[in-house]
Amino acid sequence: MQIITSAKELQTILKQVGGTVGFVPTMGALHEGHVSLIKQARTQNDVVVVSIFVNPTQFLQGEDLDKYPRKEEADRKICELSGVDYLFLPQVDEMYGKDEVFVEAPLVRGYILEGATRPGHFSGVLTVVLKLLHIVSPSRAYFGKKDAQQLFLIEEMVRNLFLDVEIVPCETMRESDGLALSSRNVYLSKEERKEALKISSSLNLARSLVTKGELESEKIIEAMKKRLEPLEVEYLVVVNRRFESIKQVVIGDTIVLVEAIVGSTRLLDNIWL
Ligand code: PAF
Repeated sequence: MQIITSAKELQTILKQVGGTVGFVPTMGALHEGHVSLIKQARTQNDVVVVSIFVNPTQFLQGEDLDKYPRKEEADRKICELSGVDYLFLPQVDEMYGKDEVFVEAPLVRGYILEGATRPGHFSGVLTVVLKLLHIVSPSRAYFGKKDAQQLFLIEEMVRNLFLDVEIVPCETMRESDGLALSSRNVYLSKEERKEALKISSSLNLARSLVTKGELESEKIIEAMKKRLEPLEVEYLVVVNRRFESIKQVVIGDTIVLVEAIVGSTRLLDNIWL
């Protein structure tokens, strides 16, 4: 595995390698969820590139940018063992200059749900993802379904800007008790981790209600809210795959999303129906 810190150098190398390139952008603190993306990229491509960059522009003032978990040494090992060919580790000044072009997230769907609790977050995400896609020029790029709104907005950007890359959505990885894997889970105390299970449990409840024939969004949300008590719920919605609110679940075109605060940690999860 080659470690590269210069965007130009990575671009030059990748222009010379033959075959398909699979790309997994990350912010590090890698866990089994990331490993599953890397493995999928490994099986579908000739070359695999992973980036680790804690992107400052997607953190709002007062958020956890400074204390976001950083585990460079462990991350390098994980990448090496997972068969990564190139690990891109840029510094902030490699990725950003002063007073430069910035991508604006769609004004409606980039500012609802996660975008409402974190206004501007998705503009930062789209800006860095666009930069990374230009640096790597991958055939395929891999993103987790757990960050469903991020995935949707990246797919929109790829369509809107006519980018020549296939976005591959990947399944959410979970602990055996159902907790969705997230780099932020390390912030949870033992007690909080137990409370956090209410999130996946509420989503399982939604799935079982739908299986039994309950398709009304309002009824599903009501039942989920009870299951989530006493957690502070930031949002709990039933949307279609275009992120528009829907009154009735349509199988094959629905996502149920929850964001709740556990202790001081914001956790999100969803199911695709
Ligand atoms: O999902 C993430 O880890 C980040 O938002 C991403 C896509 C790597 C952009 O910084």
